[in-house]
Amino acid sequence: MKTVLEVKDLCKTYVINKRQNHVLRNVNFSVNEGEMVAIMGPSGSGKSTLLYTVSGMDRMTSGKVDFCGRNMADMNEDDLAKMRLDDMGFIFQQMYMMKNLTVLDNVILPAVKSKKVKESRTECAERGRTLMHKLGIAEIADNDINEVSGGQLQRACICRSMMNKPRMIFADEPTGALNRTSSEEVMTELTHLNEEGTTIMLVTHDAKVAAKCTRVLFIVDGNIKGEYALDRSKPLRDRERSLNNWLMEMGW
Ligand SMILES: Nc1ncnc2c1ncn2[C@@H]1O[C@H](COP(=O)(O)OP(=O)(O)OP(=O)(O)O)[C@@H](O)[C@H]1O
Ligand SMILES: [Mg+2]
Repeated sequence: MKTVLEVKDLCKTYVINKRQNHVLRNVNFSVNEGEMVAIMGPSGSGKSTLLYTVSGMDRMTSGKVDFCGRNMADMNEDDLAKMRLDDMGFIFQQMYMMKNLTVLDNVILPAVKSKKVKESRTECAERGRTLMHKLGIAEIADNDINEVSGGQLQRACICRSMMNKPRMIFADEPTGALNRTSSEEVMTELTHLNEEGTTIMLVTHDAKVAAKCTRVLFIVDGNIKGEYALDRSKPLRDRERSLNNWLMEMGW
């Protein structure tokens, strides 16, 4: 099994008014190709910070993060930006969609910007439309960003994160702002992408979301307190029940 992400002794300290806040304290884990890892834990425990630092959006204070065998500490800002654009997909809440572009133009933006993708704009648009069709939002391709629902927008974000065929997708509470139905739809899509081979790491407060992943890491005070492997061959209801029991043991 290939390792996509390897994190060793990762620390992240924020300094505000000379006060140090040790948000991540010696975090160790790795993610193999094809995994779908959920990060859970109390509010303020460092989940988003973890996602940002391992994806190169934010610099670590110390430790080592390898992405596809490349040590991020050795990379300059340009290298990191290129890696994020070409090899990583991002689904964050309050997604930064460009207000003056249509949904489709937003979706294809990473491909238009990337030097890895050698396609014309028309080819990018065609691929963007195919992705949107796959995620059931073909009809909003030409809408403005403010003319779509939260669930549709989140699915558009997934399309955008897929445009450059990333090795791994990072998602911070991808269903956090959605109602139960939209949340389930988004999770169905993410699970499909994962089953087709895309490695995913997502942060969630929702045990129903985490139960659809292959592994759960539970973070408390910037440390991984425990991890739980889920067997997708078991019925979802059983996975939810066993995960909930484990989360209770973790103090959830
Ligand atoms: N940019 C920043 N500058 C300074 N401190 C920060 C910054 N981002 C986060 N923190 C602090 O780091 C700690 C962890 O924050 P983080 O956002 O990672 O938590 P979280 O687990 O994602 O919480 P939630 O579940 O509420 O989203 C908090 O104490 C927070 O105040
Ligand atoms: Mg967070």
